[in-house]
Amino acid sequence: MFTRKPLTRRSNLLSCLALFSAALAACSPVASARPAELASTEVRIQAPSAYEAGRYFILVGGCNDCHTPGWAQSGGQMAESEWLTGGKIGYRGPWGTTYAANLRLLVQKVNEDKWVEMFRTRDGRPPMPWMNYRTINQSDLRAVYRFIRELGPKGEEAPKFVVPNQEPSTPYLSFEPLMPNK
Ligand code: HEC
Repeated sequence: MFTRKPLTRRSNLLSCLALFSAALAACSPVASARPAELASTEVRIQAPSAYEAGRYFILVGGCNDCHTPGWAQSGGQMAESEWLTGGKIGYRGPWGTTYAANLRLLVQKVNEDKWVEMFRTRDGRPPMPWMNYRTINQSDLRAVYRFIRELGPKGEEAPKFVVPNQEPSTPYLSFEPLMPNK
């Protein structure tokens, strides 16, 4: 099980009482984004192993939502053995049609350093939120890599990217906004 230092309501409440003028802001639902009393070390992932840390990060990072077929439909109730095997349904938009890669196969082909570099430098296509993941801490990225490696290779490669305006040969989800029929 992953654990983290407790950021309890109680400690929040105590700091609110201590700093009366800051208290209103800190206790209100629209509290400032970065309360001064939280040291950055209090919010790092702590887990007994890279495997557990990686597993946690995959879940909160939303990786399964796109890279594990059927994830949303199952309400996240899928065996780990099925995780991250890549999507066969395309994401079609102005960028063309992309497919969520099979990460179980990818980590067999790229080493850990390359994996980290990919997240730092890749200017990839939507809907993979590359821009959001650019700031992931390096040790978190390494933990994610090791977790996926431990799952082992499984499945087939996702279909290849299709250029804009070319018809994909697989089912796809369209990102073109539709106007309601009135
Ligand atoms: C909203 C959907 C979505 C989410 C969420 C998402 N991905 Fe992706 N991912 C994709 C798509 C689509 C591609 C292909 C993008 C491209 O062609 O640039 C991709 C590509 C990748 C690649 C590059 C694969 C290759 O062969 O080069 C990696 C690595 C990756 N994703 C890892 C992750 C990880 C780790 C997470 C969670 C922290 C994640 N993705 C979350 C949709 C997603």
